[in-house]
Amino acid sequence: MKSLFLTAGALALGLMASSAATAAGGGAMPFSYSPDPGNTASLQRGARNFTAYCAACHSMKLMRYSRVGDDLNIPEEMLQANLMFNTDATGDMMMAASADGAASWFGQKPPDLSLTARARTPSWVYSYLMSFYVDAERPLGVNNTVLAGASMPHVLWELQGWQVKPDAEEGDAAADDDGHGGGSPNGLELATEGQLSPKEYQAFVGDLVNFMAYAAEPGRAGRQQLGVKVLLFLLVFTFLAYLLKKEYWRDIH
Ligand code: HEC
Repeated sequence: MKSLFLTAGALALGLMASSAATAAGGGAMPFSYSPDPGNTASLQRGARNFTAYCAACHSMKLMRYSRVGDDLNIPEEMLQANLMFNTDATGDMMMAASADGAASWFGQKPPDLSLTARARTPSWVYSYLMSFYVDAERPLGVNNTVLAGASMPHVLWELQGWQVKPDAEEGDAAADDDGHGGGSPNGLELATEGQLSPKEYQAFVGDLVNFMAYAAEPGRAGRQQLGVKVLLFLLVFTFLAYLLKKEYWRDIH
């Protein structure tokens, strides 16, 4: 009987560990980010950041505004006033304001971001948004260490400021000091400060990626809560079954 409890316990721990491992995901990314699906305030900020800075070009066509409102406890008037710029119908999908226009401006159609946080992992998206830098050789004057040759402009430059890649010699010198080129894990240095401090910018991007991870799997928070309840139920049930078995066999032994 004891071994049954141990097995159940080990199983529960194993499940938790594996979900943590999946959440961390992302291999050789310069930054890692684990979403926090239970943090509604962060998701609300992330939804606002997304609609304000990304929805002009990127759609989330698998997501309805009304679902975002329901899941994140955003009342309908607030949803319409703060998050919906293309439409008044809360039942609409989150379509981009100008995806076709953007395709002709940037040479590449901005991809739909409904599933990106799942396909690429949250750490990848976080790292990508951290890693734009000034590069005079690119058409828009900007490049990205995570997605080399990216055709997306650095839309958050006012907030982050401009990063540069320290040139090879300087980079080598710096690498002797602290193990990597610049001050940041992606080897970039902040040359011009933005409106946000580096810490505030990290929090801004964190909320944004948290929202994208939620949107890629809206049922996740609910599923995890259900999983915990099921495990608790199984533990209690096992205990009751054990008591019952003891009761049945009492007179026989
Ligand atoms: C001005 C239009 C525009 C805006 C605004 C914009 N993007 Fe993009 N984005 C693009 C284009 C174009 C690409 C394609 C880049 C490429 O593949 O070279 C892209 C690519 C991406 C990718 C890579 C997707 C993939 O799987 O390759 C991500 C992630 C992304 N954008 C996130 C964002 C986020 C988050 C915001 C808001 C902070 C944002 N974008 C705002 C135009 C835009």
